[in-house]
Amino acid sequence: MRIVRHRDVSIDAIAADIADGNVSVKSDFIEEGLVRTLRNEALALWSDGEFDAARVGIGDSKHLAPTVRRDWIHWLDDASLTDTQLAVAARLETLRSAINLHTFMGLFEWEGHLALYPPGSFYKRHVDVFRNNRERQVTFILYLNPDWTEGDGGELRVYETGDDISSYEDVEPRGGTLVTFLSEEVHHEVLTSQTDRLTWTGWYRTRPPHRY
Ligand code: OGA
Ligand code: MN
Repeated sequence: MRIVRHRDVSIDAIAADIADGNVSVKSDFIEEGLVRTLRNEALALWSDGEFDAARVGIGDSKHLAPTVRRDWIHWLDDASLTDTQLAVAARLETLRSAINLHTFMGLFEWEGHLALYPPGSFYKRHVDVFRNNRERQVTFILYLNPDWTEGDGGELRVYETGDDISSYEDVEPRGGTLVTFLSEEVHHEVLTSQTDRLTWTGWYRTRPPHRY
């Protein structure tokens, strides 16, 4: 696995990275105006109490685990997206088709949520696929932090393998950057954030979504 960083390349290049088993980092997946509107909409939902403390596990074993993750999430419902969210969803659809063409993975659709990491929050090293449920195939993370600067923390730490914690690369959660990788394979972690860190995180799935 390699981490490939792109600036001005097409969505096809991201799909090719996935086909090669690499982690794709694309800055400017969406433009700054969209990032700011999405962020403001998300912060309004946060103020209205529309985020829940994120849990770990699946089904009956789902539980709060503040030593593992401290983010808050708001599930997105495909049927009731705002106009701004729809603009992003259209691009995510283009990417889904492109990955299907490059990999024959048969990705059916995406599920996803907004996530907010208040100052002091993190998400320890993990993979995104549950042991007994492998419908999540490809992870995407879109960063909604237009004013991120060095020292704000909250970098995404991507490990090169599952068993060597000394070999990794950090990705800055700058507004508009999209990170994409194979959900089952890539061990990753969110370092402690010093500011309100926002993302739109989701997964392309092989089956229709249901909420865990
Ligand atoms: C996740 C996750 C990474 C990030 O939500 O599973 O790993 O950079 N997020 O927010
Ligand atoms: Mn993850």
